Amino acid sequence: MDTTIDYTRLLSADLPEPAAKWAPFPKYYFIGGNNDPTQIPIEGLIEAAASVLRRDGAKLAIYNLGLGPQGYPPLRQFVADKSARTRGIRAAADDVVITTGSGQAIDMISRMLINPGDTILTEEYCYQGALNRFRKLGATLVGMKLDSDGIVIDALAQQLADLQARGIAPKFIYTIPTVQNPTATIMPLERRQALVRLAREHNVAIFEDECYADLLLDGIEAPPALYALDPGCVIHIGSFSKSLAPALRLGFIIAPWPVISRLLPLKGDSGTGALDQMVVAEYFGKHFDRHVGHLNTVLHDKLQTMVEAVAQEFGAAAECWAPKGGIFLWIRLPESVDVRKLVKPAAEAGIVFNPGPDWAVSPDNSFNSLRLCFAMPDKQTIRDGVAELARVCYEQTGIPMRSGNVPRR
Ligand SMILES: Cc1ncc(COP(=O)(O)O)c(C=O)c1O
Repeated sequence: MDTTIDYTRLLSADLPEPAAKWAPFPKYYFIGGNNDPTQIPIEGLIEAAASVLRRDGAKLAIYNLGLGPQGYPPLRQFVADKSARTRGIRAAADDVVITTGSGQAIDMISRMLINPGDTILTEEYCYQGALNRFRKLGATLVGMKLDSDGIVIDALAQQLADLQARGIAPKFIYTIPTVQNPTATIMPLERRQALVRLAREHNVAIFEDECYADLLLDGIEAPPALYALDPGCVIHIGSFSKSLAPALRLGFIIAPWPVISRLLPLKGDSGTGALDQMVVAEYFGKHFDRHVGHLNTVLHDKLQTMVEAVAQEFGAAAECWAPKGGIFLWIRLPESVDVRKLVKPAAEAGIVFNPGPDWAVSPDNSFNSLRLCFAMPDKQTIRDGVAELARVCYEQTGIPMRSGNVPRR
């Protein structure tokens, strides 16, 4: 229906582009941090919901359950206990704020720290949602070089010195040290220690995003979080989206009170969904290790399927960063392939993927990279979709030259 009022005359300045109408997912949907639908513990959640509603349901009559804006205390306690156990973080429930997804945490922290024109350091390949938020607030982004162990510290030290020489004081370093998005690397302890030392030396805050820290491949261990090394210069965030379900919209911030006291007024939603918090506290309070352990086995299997499919279909043309966990694969193709040119023909073939430049500070070193998510599609869809993508790539660029898919068509 058309509007009777001409809103175009009334719109405020600097609005984002209008949204496109939502369209159902195409057949090969390799984007978005979705989870595996078969891994939602439905019976466990039903049981948890029934028990917590019987016990605490009457509190839903009151905003924030009448328990304050930081979130449902048992969930905050769960976050504090889990972070101590798995991330080495010593924090009390009072150091935790539950947020409406960790995306809201990024909004709040960005809003707290960024003025237009501020310089922020982010990993050269980085979560698009964070890059977009920082850019929207007018930040200038500087990419930190990555290798298979995360941020290259010597290069960062040089960058910080160069910035200092130019009179530029970066506001913060945004990093995903544990299962980096999109490279899925884990930063070793010595680099973490060196990073914290550098941040202190240069008086730069660290914004640590551990969205995927629960999703480690079998046998992989992660060093303590940066927050565990120095809570004085780090703000830590995490999420329940990847360990349980993104549609729940639950994330968290861990920070000392002076930071929390500035963040809480920026949480503009009158409280994160309380029933969601109650159910997750109840369910994860009993079943976290079992659930996440099993989920990681399933994800590992899917990752192997995707790695094998990429090797079979793209051969030597595709170079994959070796993931240590998570739900995506970051792939580099030869320099003659500009993945941006594949987006449209791939979409016509029912495939969506993340082109490298959307996931990077600069298109210069990412135009031939792409990210493929593997948690949601089943294994046959992963195999078929990668084969289709290789076919599209071959038709557009002549690469992969000797792909397994070419003779079949
Ligand atoms: C690194 C990173 N941080 C934060 C988020 C936001 O996730 P959510 O708002 O679902 O917690 C994502 C989503 O994929 C992510 O990849």
